Amino acid sequence: MRIDIITVLPELLKSPFDASILKRAIDAGLVEVHFHNLRDYTTDNYKSIDDTQFGGGAGMVMMIEPIDKCISALKADRDYDEVIYMTPDGETLKQGIANQLSMKENIIILCGHYKGVDQRVRDLFITREISIGDYVLSGGELGAAVLCDAIIRLIPGVLGNETSALTDSFQDNLLAPPIYTKPRDYKGSKVPELLFSGNLPEIEKWREEQAYLRTKARRPDLLDE
Ligand code: ADE
Repeated sequence: MRIDIITVLPELLKSPFDASILKRAIDAGLVEVHFHNLRDYTTDNYKSIDDTQFGGGAGMVMMIEPIDKCISALKADRDYDEVIYMTPDGETLKQGIANQLSMKENIIILCGHYKGVDQRVRDLFITREISIGDYVLSGGELGAAVLCDAIIRLIPGVLGNETSALTDSFQDNLLAPPIYTKPRDYKGSKVPELLFSGNLPEIEKWREEQAYLRTKARRPDLLDE
């Protein structure tokens, strides 16, 4: 898989890809992530990427031309399955979206800034708009990092134990059950006895029940989906 990220702040974006699972995935060649600085696609001396809004109003708008140049240059080299725009008014990121995107070959992610992009960018180039939640960030970069993390960990071979991504919270619309490790007794707080029984079917049943109870208590909306 290849991910091309278009941003005005590449330095803000790079560090999450330089550690832990994302770095391992990149080093192993399971995913390529490329950063494109939008200012490299400007034509004026000031490297402007934004301007004031037609019709008046506060806040700058990202201009179409540098974005067109960048996306067109990428598309000249390969086909893309999706051109995603990170924006608070997009569809809210859910595990199902990450699952779908993890099966794509090539995607572009455009990070918005200021008031956002000229509407014609959205009309002409964008195939999917994604929000990471109902709050406004200063730009799309952190959202893009969240989206990439959610996608990349699902690519086969990225997680050591391939089944572990499937047992994550949300994969079956249930939150994950409680988990424990050593010590067995921490200052009187004990691990449930059943987990030492060696009875795997009973342990599995207990985990399913716990997942259901936790979901019912914390996220009953997931049970309706
Ligand atoms: N850009 C600004 N806020 C955002 C959000 N909530 N999700 C994705 N991109 C954003």
